[in-house]
Amino acid sequence: MCGIVGFVGRQPAAPILLEGLRHLEYRGYDSAGIAVYSEEDGLEVIKTSGRLQALIDIVSGGKELTGTMGIGHTRWATHGEPSDANSHPHVSEDGRIAVVHNGIIENYMEIKQLLQSKGVSFSSDTDTEVVAQLLEYYYRGDILQAVVEVLRVIEGSYALGIICAGEGRLIAARKDSPLILGYGEDGNFLASDVTAIIGHTRDVCYMDDGEIAVLDQDGIQVYNAMLEPLQKEHSYVDWEISAAEKGGYEHFMFKEIMEQPEAIRKTAFPRLDSGKVVLENLSLTDEMIRSLHKIHIIACGSSYHVGVVGKYNLERLLRIPVEVSLASEFRYANPILDAQSLVLVISQSGETLDTMAAMREAKRLGGRTLAIVNVVGSSIAKEADDVLYTWAGPEIAVATTKAYSTQLILVDMLGLYLADKRGCIDKKLYKRIVRELLELPAKMERVLETTEDIKYYASRYFNNSSVFFIGRNLDYALSLEGSLKLKEISYIHSESYAAGELKHGTISLIEKGTLVVAIATYTALFEKAMSNVIEVKSRGADVLALTTDSHAGSMENTADAVLTIPETDPIFLPSLAVVPLQLFAYYVALHRGCDIDKPRNLAKSVTVE
Ligand code: F6R
Repeated sequence: MCGIVGFVGRQPAAPILLEGLRHLEYRGYDSAGIAVYSEEDGLEVIKTSGRLQALIDIVSGGKELTGTMGIGHTRWATHGEPSDANSHPHVSEDGRIAVVHNGIIENYMEIKQLLQSKGVSFSSDTDTEVVAQLLEYYYRGDILQAVVEVLRVIEGSYALGIICAGEGRLIAARKDSPLILGYGEDGNFLASDVTAIIGHTRDVCYMDDGEIAVLDQDGIQVYNAMLEPLQKEHSYVDWEISAAEKGGYEHFMFKEIMEQPEAIRKTAFPRLDSGKVVLENLSLTDEMIRSLHKIHIIACGSSYHVGVVGKYNLERLLRIPVEVSLASEFRYANPILDAQSLVLVISQSGETLDTMAAMREAKRLGGRTLAIVNVVGSSIAKEADDVLYTWAGPEIAVATTKAYSTQLILVDMLGLYLADKRGCIDKKLYKRIVRELLELPAKMERVLETTEDIKYYASRYFNNSSVFFIGRNLDYALSLEGSLKLKEISYIHSESYAAGELKHGTISLIEKGTLVVAIATYTALFEKAMSNVIEVKSRGADVLALTTDSHAGSMENTADAVLTIPETDPIFLPSLAVVPLQLFAYYVALHRGCDIDKPRNLAKSVTVE
């Protein structure tokens, strides 16, 4: 995933840019580059494919570059292979203008051909270079005006950072790709991710689509597309930079798994007041809540899996139909919605394009949107009618963990809140669920204490080439996430299957040596789960079962290995039971020598170049 950082101020820019890029490294990249400008030395651009360290070595840490204004970029290739020429920044033919870009310029071929027909020669295969060349084409001594012209021509998504020789200002523009402005003491900043700049400032503002910002050493001015000045709200970043670093753990993924009890406390406890769920600043009125007749959940990947759990829990609490859709399907499915439909949009990053597009489609069709998002100020958060933040802190590992469990909690809390407003929940049940919620982080800590057992089972099973995760009802919903975690980071082929459906064909794949992870936490269907375990065992499968403490005894007589979680209300089972599955996937991947924080399928390819 690409990263952008920019600085203009009263000190050399290069070391600041390199440090910023260092903090963006976790996002995955294949090349890196910077451009700095000073009156004495002009525009200097240094870029290279490969690790950031190679760039740092080329510029000796940046200390020889005197420019106090610059832009930097880490690139993950989409248009054109990873190479020095395709790395950012891209520079106009006359060498005056340098550009870094996240997103995709959809009409770049057209623009490129047009400019080539006018004699412009290109030096890369990227879509981004057309922005640099087009800026030169429109440049008449005022880079801001040229940017306005270019934005009228380009189509697609962009977060842009632009500098121009002879002008002491850095220009930023955004559409469908995040961009953050930072207000510092000795200069001002630009970044695609706040981790790149919080070492320097916590006073930030999130750019909105269609906005252009002009940064100089004394301040920042944001404009709309017509160049009318805007007053932007500042935000204060209150988490520590260490929260975005590994904190002593070998991998971000492990750190984030271990953070889950705390993350759940942060998500849930501030929203509990005298035993009642209070949801902040919802514009959804009591009348709207009472008139709801359907809930749609839209999301991608693990967030979609949260939706599958959410369907069971919300239908149980509200007794209205809940439909859960993959965002990439929903957006093209001509869904049936009306003003009494609540559309729950779930996204950790708040920047997933399919989810965003599905949300826009839902709005267009008249649905009322409520987003559950982790990243504050992200696009989905801003566009939804209402937003609830998970408050889980930055999630850096590509494989999501604490976002999944905190999203689940927030969906459950929303269910309680809506059920209460609709008067369809028994007071005793409400109280009991809230009590269970308060106990959940401590129970999760107990599950985390079983890490050594899970590590052992991972060492026993890491060589399997095919793994089935099976379960029924909530256990099936959870099996989707267990399976995704394993395949995503360990590259083992794995399927999640509704246990009762196996006999309709797929059971033929279960043979001697197949690993079956049987999830059997849902007491109401435990006997059914047991019979599935017996069935797959009779076919020679190795069975690793996951159940609750009270069923451990009977399961131990049947399965090859048993992991347990404490008892809780069914509503919270998946949030608790996901932990051993995350740890299992983590240790299997570790045994297989996989690059855990940056798996090769890069699931969060949300705002790629
Ligand atoms: C899996 C994972 C992905 C994301 C998916 C949606 O570990 O991280 O499947 O869940 O890409 O991302 P968000 O939630 O940011 O919309």
